[in-house]
Amino acid sequence: MIRTRTPLLAGNWKMWGTRSEAAALSTALTAVVGRTPGREVMIAPPFTALEVVRSVIDGSAIQLGAQNLHWEPKGAFTGEISAPMLVEAGCTYVIIGHSERRQLFGELDAGVNLKTRAALRAGLAPVICVGETLPERDAGETLGRVQAQLDAAIAGVSAADLARCLIAYEPVWAIGTGRTATPAQAQEVHAFIRARLAAGHPSLAASIRILYGGSMKPDNVRALMAEVDVDGGLVGGASLQAESFVRMVREGS
Ligand code: PGA
Repeated sequence: MIRTRTPLLAGNWKMWGTRSEAAALSTALTAVVGRTPGREVMIAPPFTALEVVRSVIDGSAIQLGAQNLHWEPKGAFTGEISAPMLVEAGCTYVIIGHSERRQLFGELDAGVNLKTRAALRAGLAPVICVGETLPERDAGETLGRVQAQLDAAIAGVSAADLARCLIAYEPVWAIGTGRTATPAQAQEVHAFIRARLAAGHPSLAASIRILYGGSMKPDNVRALMAEVDVDGGLVGGASLQAESFVRMVREGS
């Protein structure tokens, strides 16, 4: 299969990684996957480790991402971090609307849209997460839920800006559970997302990368990425060990 989209393997470290742990992990990754032809690699450590990871990966092809942001550039928003701050910290990507943010911290579709637009204004590439819960899947609501999340996230985003967005399909029931979507289940939703993007932006949809996330591991990455619309992965647990993440970067094609 000839790929026109460069696959991205993105490590979402979540709330793991003291500065010294982050330095060790990013050092190991830089040594091995710092330059991997035909593959892009991004790691998203906790905010407090951005600076140390940036200094480690500097000069390599590994990109730096953040896990969240606030939509205002600055202001009285205790505990929040803005897009310009992330750019200053060296980020080029930001994960937006992760299901943990939605489920545990009450993030709503409207906020995901504000964050997406703020990221784009600052020059960051948003990785917009969508995905259904198990009850939604069991009720046959998967595609409707994904469509609603996607439409809300990119409402008002221009075609030029949409070209810089990535979508991550992350079925909530697969995140951190060890229960991965089958390649066919992933492909069905990825194809649906691409068709939905094509409805609004016919010339763009073929170039937008759609990542899969949810218990992606070295032993299933190849089968998932063999699907025509799976352009990489947003990897949680398996990105915390250099050895497994390196295997995933090399296995996925
Ligand atoms: P997991 O997490 O790989 O540990 O399932 C994926 C994610 O939450 O992005």
